[in-house]
Amino acid sequence: MKKMILSISLLLMVSFLYSQSAKRFYPASELISVGAYYYPEHWDESVWERDLKQMAKMGFEFTHYGEFAWAQLEPEEGKYNFEWLDRAIALADKYGLKVILCTSTATPPVWLVRKYAEVLITHEDGTRMDHGARQHASFSSTFYREYSQKMIAELAKRYGNDERVIGWQLDNEPRMSIDYGPDAHERFRVWLKEKYGTIEALNKAWGNDFWSGLYNDFSQINIPLHSQWGMNIHQRLDHTRFADWETASFMDKQARTIRKHITRDQWITTNYIPMYDVRYIGQSRELDFVTYTRYMIYGEGLGVGRKGYRIGEPLRIAMANDYFRPLSEIIGVMELQPGQVNWGQINPQPLPGAVRLWNWHVFAGGSKFTCTYRFRAPLYGYEQYHYGIMDFDGVRPSPGGLEFQQFIEEINLLRKHFVGLDVPDEYRKRYTGVLFDPNNAIAMAHNPQTTEWHTENHVLKYYKALKSFGAPVDFVRDTMDISKYPVLVVPAYQQMSLELIEELTNYASNGGHLVMTVRTGHQDPYGHLWEAPYAQPIYNLIGSEIEFYDLLMPHAPDHVKMDGELHSWTSWGEILKPFTGTEAWATFEDDFYAGKPAVIWRNLGRGTVTYVGVDTHDGQLEHKVLTRVFERAGIKTESYPEGIIVEYRDSFGIAMNYSDKNYAVKIPSGSQILVGQPNIAPAEVVVWKIE
Ligand code: GAL
Repeated sequence: MKKMILSISLLLMVSFLYSQSAKRFYPASELISVGAYYYPEHWDESVWERDLKQMAKMGFEFTHYGEFAWAQLEPEEGKYNFEWLDRAIALADKYGLKVILCTSTATPPVWLVRKYAEVLITHEDGTRMDHGARQHASFSSTFYREYSQKMIAELAKRYGNDERVIGWQLDNEPRMSIDYGPDAHERFRVWLKEKYGTIEALNKAWGNDFWSGLYNDFSQINIPLHSQWGMNIHQRLDHTRFADWETASFMDKQARTIRKHITRDQWITTNYIPMYDVRYIGQSRELDFVTYTRYMIYGEGLGVGRKGYRIGEPLRIAMANDYFRPLSEIIGVMELQPGQVNWGQINPQPLPGAVRLWNWHVFAGGSKFTCTYRFRAPLYGYEQYHYGIMDFDGVRPSPGGLEFQQFIEEINLLRKHFVGLDVPDEYRKRYTGVLFDPNNAIAMAHNPQTTEWHTENHVLKYYKALKSFGAPVDFVRDTMDISKYPVLVVPAYQQMSLELIEELTNYASNGGHLVMTVRTGHQDPYGHLWEAPYAQPIYNLIGSEIEFYDLLMPHAPDHVKMDGELHSWTSWGEILKPFTGTEAWATFEDDFYAGKPAVIWRNLGRGTVTYVGVDTHDGQLEHKVLTRVFERAGIKTESYPEGIIVEYRDSFGIAMNYSDKNYAVKIPSGSQILVGQPNIAPAEVVVWKIE
């Protein structure tokens, strides 16, 4: 009897937790839902029905309205017009399409900015943005933050109880608004006061004894000028923190407004551009989950091989997946390119197959939905020449549209095969955490010491190696549980508390395999160097002293030798002096410190610690180091060539080819191939069900 009561209460607890969790919005067995943006306000109403019918016919399950339509929703101050949106929602519903609604705060109407010009962003030189584009209202305008809630509340009141609406997207691609208007200065001061309490504490944290920087009072502090040489680096870092917080807290404010009027069945999110040097991603606590937007071909990423730019950088979706997934219980992709875009320096055609490939990659990363920007190709406006799911005539599907349709059909097939959430053991054992904090990326960009340093490229060298091993990767924060990762990479994590150093020590002592790289732990959490021998607080952890660091001129690279091979470097080198018991894996080869260790490894308790004191040009050394770390740890890895990515999700294996050659995927025996075939050409995919 006792047992029964126990298991009933356990069951109740589990179902309670589930009902609280964002997972309730997307049952696992549906795998992934596919949608498309539609802007009813861009088209004559007579074609809406035709378009939505076509969208449904192609298999899309939801659409997305009202993103930039404030002028149409509130044509005059306080006069709302929702009738057109009512009709558009009714039509979507008629064809079985669910609707995501947006808050339109990225595009304030002209009456608003003319009447309340202070909402416009002021640049450093005093000029103001103007009506005619988007994202010109400041998140630091106290008036704008309040005033916009009225319109948002009206929307939420009207549709918050509407079963046809599944969720809400706040703003659009919210980002840091750098504003020099009076409110922004004032809000910065208030934020600083809250953070530091006293001006003395701020002076200390910012090192204001330097260059007579002392403040007597918070009221004297301004937003730092970007163009002024020598501006206090600590002040600049705090200003970016503040600007990020303005974004995050404005999203929270919108979410709270909406939440008052909606049922528990509607979710709230926003759509971030994956950027790895901002903090607002993951900072808004009121969102149910996070989503990202991704464009793969815009004339920049060169991809693999001569025409790799037609498929895009293989790690671009991968890293967004692995960065966003740990930040919330579920993730979605709000925008995925359907074909050519208009805004790149050069806007090439994607390789046939690439649009479908990206969708599969989104699926492989765990996303619960994928949505495309946009259904119809716009005929006018700034985004003229941007492809859609339909051709410019609005009648024929575009090539990318057909690829979306194919993906939807394939997902429908997979849904029939869904059995559970398993991934193979071998894959799970390679699970790797990458400890990352955007503060470090920003601080190093403000104070780089060398033009050769690039944080994201540094991280990518390790990430690329991990993906070639077929390792599932999570980007984790210091507030998350790191103990579940057999391997933890900590790349260039410059500012570190003594507590975090201790936590990493415990991680390794308890059996974890820790890999730390250059610049890690060299500063305290305020961004000050330690008053100690250079970087001393990490010595006991890495089993070595750091004698000094060196930065080379670009025209004269030096080399590090590992296993008889030379690897060139210029950006950052640390000359190590290991303690007894620490092994040297690589040494500097040139100059006055030739022969001294650059990469070291040691046992610590039940685990290991590797310190990589160099950042090489091509990442081959980093690849070798990680290979050996995994080998020593007894973790079996794959060695996929560049551009081949294999992931597992929900009992399915997905192999994707971003390279310029065919690749024969080794499908584990006993698996059933559901999509494609094992020899995948560039931009092809093969999907199998694991046994
Ligand atoms: C995105 C943006 C969309 C649209 C799109 C065009 O970055 O969120 O609103 O402008 O680019 O490719």
